[in-house]
Amino acid sequence: MPQKPYVIDEMISAKAIAARVEGLAKDIRAEFADTDKLVVVGLLRGSFVFIADLVRELDLPVEVDFLEASSYGDGMESSREVRILKDLRGKIEGRDVLVVEDIVDTGHTLSHVSDYLSTRHPGRLRTIALLDKPARREVDFKADWTGFEIPDEFVVGYGIDYAQRNRNLPFIGKVRFVDDPA
Ligand code: IMP
Repeated sequence: MPQKPYVIDEMISAKAIAARVEGLAKDIRAEFADTDKLVVVGLLRGSFVFIADLVRELDLPVEVDFLEASSYGDGMESSREVRILKDLRGKIEGRDVLVVEDIVDTGHTLSHVSDYLSTRHPGRLRTIALLDKPARREVDFKADWTGFEIPDEFVVGYGIDYAQRNRNLPFIGKVRFVDDPA
């Protein structure tokens, strides 16, 4: 489906993200300092940049795994019905798990994924999201750590897409539609 023309206004700079990721990594190191069993689980695809930066700041023995849950597809609206499209490769029973997400929006995805992984009897199960849009919440869910609270805007960059584009922007930007010049 062709997209309406839009521009991207920078909301959070690459520098601000790097500083926040460093701070979050410090908190996570403190939480998991006593374990050599940590599995860091990235939710595909939006968390791929965040998880890459985060694990390199952790300085802990970690394994990295990925899980893909259904999300927005090519649009801007959450489907609300969350399905697991790609499961973990490794086992998490008895292991500490940190689930890494790009954005908590309605909350359905992280809430569903947490419930799903809990059934495998991990050790500690914690969640982290780079961005949080509390105004959009539909289920009572709060990540253990969040990087930035943002208003109800559609954002892209640093791994996050609009219709699969803009994941490679180094900053977080807000999508603003402009009138079609034609
Ligand atoms: P939730 O299940 O509504 O919390 O949504 C989580 C997923 O929706 C995120 O992992 C993103 O893939 C997607 N999402 C939510 N807000 C945005 C946004 O502003 N831009 C792009 N994707 C978003």
